[in-house]
Amino acid sequence: MARQASRYVCQECGAVFPKWSGRCDACGAWNAIVEEEARPAAPRGLGAGRGKTIELVSLAGSDSDPPRLACGIAEFDRVTGGGMVDGSALLIGGDPGIGKSTMLLQVAGALAATAPVVYISGEEATDQIRLRARRLGLGEAPVGLAAATSVRDIVATLESGEPPRAVVVDSIQTMYVDTLESAPGTVGQVRASAQELIQLAKRRGFCLLLVGHVTKDGSIAGPRVLEHMVDGVFYFEGKSGHEFRLLRGLKNRFGPTDEIGVFEMTGRGLIEVSNPSALFLAERQDDVPGAAVFAGMEGTRPVLVEIQALVSPSPLATPRRAVVGWDSARLAMVLAVLETRCGIGLAGRDVYLNVAGGMRIAEPAADLAVAGAVLSAVSDRPAPADAVMFGEIGLGGEVRGVGRPALRLREAAKLGFSRAVAPTRSGGEQAPNAEIEVTAIDHLNDLVAMFGPPRPARDAGWPRRQEA
Ligand code: TYD
Ligand code: MG
Repeated sequence: MARQASRYVCQECGAVFPKWSGRCDACGAWNAIVEEEARPAAPRGLGAGRGKTIELVSLAGSDSDPPRLACGIAEFDRVTGGGMVDGSALLIGGDPGIGKSTMLLQVAGALAATAPVVYISGEEATDQIRLRARRLGLGEAPVGLAAATSVRDIVATLESGEPPRAVVVDSIQTMYVDTLESAPGTVGQVRASAQELIQLAKRRGFCLLLVGHVTKDGSIAGPRVLEHMVDGVFYFEGKSGHEFRLLRGLKNRFGPTDEIGVFEMTGRGLIEVSNPSALFLAERQDDVPGAAVFAGMEGTRPVLVEIQALVSPSPLATPRRAVVGWDSARLAMVLAVLETRCGIGLAGRDVYLNVAGGMRIAEPAADLAVAGAVLSAVSDRPAPADAVMFGEIGLGGEVRGVGRPALRLREAAKLGFSRAVAPTRSGGEQAPNAEIEVTAIDHLNDLVAMFGPPRPARDAGWPRRQEA
């Protein structure tokens, strides 16, 4: 009799090996390879059977916008692109305890007001979920609740009767398909369970929200393949010690991926933060050297954050450069430009950069504010408390235009800032803003001149506010 064939699958990346080893050659993970039953070999080629012909249609005859299901929680709806598209599958990832179940229960509760919703938990008993719902003020919401892990049972339940508009499955790692031998949470099970549920969602036309756990390295646990199977991937993130949570899109077939949703975790669940700038600037201290306020954009929304820098003499042969919340390669570039083009000596000094409030920014437009924070630290002079900065820095020291300057300035003015340092050239609309005095610069040396040499009189190079 033929030996039962096995294959060895890495639970981190999904790579398949003919024999076991301690370390995955594909992704480098240790102790992640697990034996799984091999599937019967597929017949070579297509064989003799004839397929049926597929009807080809034209691009032009496209239908109108797909119907969307918005839950009314604006921070959530913005990230999904104005609501979830019927029949689509979304994956919500995040660290344990960050609040995924809480958010999705609130979303389910909000949806239930207008549409039939089902919430299936493989992690908690129905009593626990009821308790949480009461705490969230959703005790009376007409959500169909179940504690189940068998995909066969879930499919059977959702196949019968009227289909719901949305189904939450918390979490995909607890679901199992009984035709596979492997344990729930393994790559094979996660993939098969997700496939069944996604097909069901497409067939019955409901929105599927899958919760996925995140591994140490930050990817959604188990297979990356899951990210290819779904229509949208969203991460729910937050920093320990901070109450705010960000929902961020990584992939979205039906909307933008650069939008963020901001929430605050309270004793009564998540509440929306519609003005994140105020939150991120709440603990700012004026008059401390080494800080600058960056007027950034997250998707379509302007967000102001404080960038902090600390420059100190280094005991090390290779000075330390540490960054929290920004790209370290980008900091190295800004420091090199400051040294080479502006003569700011940073050799022998450690540089620490921090985006205050636990925010993470990716925009190159932050370059100028980073340079401002570093210059303020080096010159030991605070940047003016009422000024924001934005602009991209090129390797020649030139300050380049960035998108949406008008929106950035308007947000700054709204939060009480009265001055801005911005690129002369701006991508897109030029923004004469009556409420805010803009110092337009086109080289980093102009910014250096504003801070001046170490420790002369404060505020020298800055345009003075006209007293009324
Ligand atoms: P949870 O949604 O269970 O996280 P996840 O599903 O991502 O693992 O959130 C758990 C945390 O949220 C827990 O530490 C308690 C906290 N929490 C609140 O602070 N307020 C609340 O109203 C609720 C329901 C939870
Ligand atoms: Mg949970």
